[in-house]
Amino acid sequence: MDQDTSPPICDYEGSTYRSDFWEGQGREYEDLAERIAIRRLLPPAGQNLIEIGAGFGRLATLYQGYERVVLFDYSRSQLEYARQIYGDKGFLYVAGDIYKAPFAPGFFDTVLMVRVLHHMKDPPAALSTIRYMMHKDSIFILEYANKQNLKAILRWLLRQQSWNPFSLEPVEFVELNYDFHPRYVKQMLSDLDFTPGRVLTVSHFRIGFIKRVVPARILAALDSVAQLTGALWQLSPSVFIRSQASSADSTAPEGAFWRCPTCGGFSLAEEEPGCLYCTDCTARWGIHNGIYNFKEPLK
Ligand SMILES: C[S@@+](CC[C@H](N)C(=O)[O-])C[C@H]1O[C@@H](n2cnc3c(N)ncnc32)[C@H](O)[C@@H]1O
Ligand SMILES: [Zn+2]
Repeated sequence: MDQDTSPPICDYEGSTYRSDFWEGQGREYEDLAERIAIRRLLPPAGQNLIEIGAGFGRLATLYQGYERVVLFDYSRSQLEYARQIYGDKGFLYVAGDIYKAPFAPGFFDTVLMVRVLHHMKDPPAALSTIRYMMHKDSIFILEYANKQNLKAILRWLLRQQSWNPFSLEPVEFVELNYDFHPRYVKQMLSDLDFTPGRVLTVSHFRIGFIKRVVPARILAALDSVAQLTGALWQLSPSVFIRSQASSADSTAPEGAFWRCPTCGGFSLAEEEPGCLYCTDCTARWGIHNGIYNFKEPLK
């Protein structure tokens, strides 16, 4: 819980991720393919769902069957954009760091993390926080960037790339951007008390010239079929894996939802408007423009 010992964060505060990476940037195919994979893995309805590193809420339209959806991200500005689109009915916006997530144990039935593990310097720490938030019947859907993809294998064989796509350790190809080996991820999940289940390989056709000549919807339809090969081998740049919790969960006091990132206590209450107060350590956490802010306590 000590701020200084926490791993570094790839900070998207104020970033133009939505307009620079997604909208009009030729990634309609990847977006469609990811939605197909999530629809296959996501229980269509339920009570409490959280997306970790939800960004500007690109995928939130998929969560309509859930009673309460928490969009959690380190970047307040990304969440502000999401809130403008989805409003407050059924949605809760929480800013914070996954390594110090402000939620009581065992609360969420469904947890998703898409395009976020690749920013994690300490993946086991991030995933154990997620495990803590789940109960024994919860589902966890994880997307990760696959180092053992065909392009990386080819580049390695042609000696255009120094790192070995078949070795198990993560590769940091740009600062705070990592690719992972499927066996490393599966082993990590098992070690952290998850039971890894269905695997889908995604974005098989993420190749510039193919994307230029074949319409995104056709590529996504082809990808939809190719995704099923994930059960046999994983050679695509993106992989989705669904896991369940393996054993019993930690318990929180009845009705607890928040957990104070400073002291780990569960006694947080909105004693005055615009602020959650921790009666255990006296930390105060701000609520501003409908976003709960656990990035740092109020002064
Ligand atoms: C590549 S974006 C993906 C956004 C969204 N999942 C999507 O697929 O459109 C990565 C997101 O992870 C968030 N993130 C990175 N490190 C984080 C951390 N330690 N805790 C919470 N969120 C984090 C960033 O703020 C950013 O919004
Ligand atoms: Zn506290």
